Amino acid sequence: MAAFDWNFQPKLDRRTVEELLSLAFVERAEDLLITGKTGTGKSHILQAIALKACEQEWAVRYSRCVDLVDDLYAGLADGSYNRRMQRWARPALLLIDDVGLGQLKRQGDEPTAAHILYTLLDKRHGKVATALTSNLKLSAWGKYLGDASLAAAALDRLAATATRIDIDGPSYRQHLARKRAEESGRAIVQDGEAEEP
Ligand SMILES: Nc1ncnc2c1ncn2[C@@H]1O[C@H](COP(=O)(O)OP(=O)(O)OP(=O)(O)O)[C@@H](O)[C@H]1O
Ligand SMILES: [Mg+2]
Repeated sequence: MAAFDWNFQPKLDRRTVEELLSLAFVERAEDLLITGKTGTGKSHILQAIALKACEQEWAVRYSRCVDLVDDLYAGLADGSYNRRMQRWARPALLLIDDVGLGQLKRQGDEPTAAHILYTLLDKRHGKVATALTSNLKLSAWGKYLGDASLAAAALDRLAATATRIDIDGPSYRQHLARKRAEESGRAIVQDGEAEEP
């Protein structure tokens, strides 16, 4: 988090994030849900927590949501679903990044992503910690994951113990893009000035 600009996101409660970085929530087998618009720093914070947990030698697994669901669909195809599910269910800290980004590639009569996430969260709930990020409002998870009731059941399990953070602020990506544009604009002016006799 050394590179994180707290002033850029004034509505984000620094104390809550620092408390999470202490990893007490992993010890207590609690959950974490970070929501907010694109570019607001959700994955940045999640990855900082992952790194910290690795440093402290917790068993950690990190994945984007689409990759996790794809891995389990592959398990349905080759008969390794239960083994793969166990591998996602076991670690003391599982970080599922970017729920809502990317296309979930369900085929034929395969279970929905909602079913897969529900099963996984149900196995983990109360035993080990799970942290998720999403750019979607919680009310939109059902549509994205393909089953409103199962998405609600998955979220209900999270709601029981999860720390909730909603980052209500601007996109740092856009901020960087604007900064780069300004800098390159200035550089062109400076180049022109340098050429003058
Ligand atoms: N407050 C901040 N200070 C410094 N860098 C930041 C800050 N917020 C975000 N960034 C950087 O901006 C980029 C975008 O942030 P990040 O990927 O965390 O956004 P996100 O909320 O996960 O967006 P998305 O919903 O699109 O996945 C990253 O390179 C991240 O390191
Ligand atoms: Mg992200």
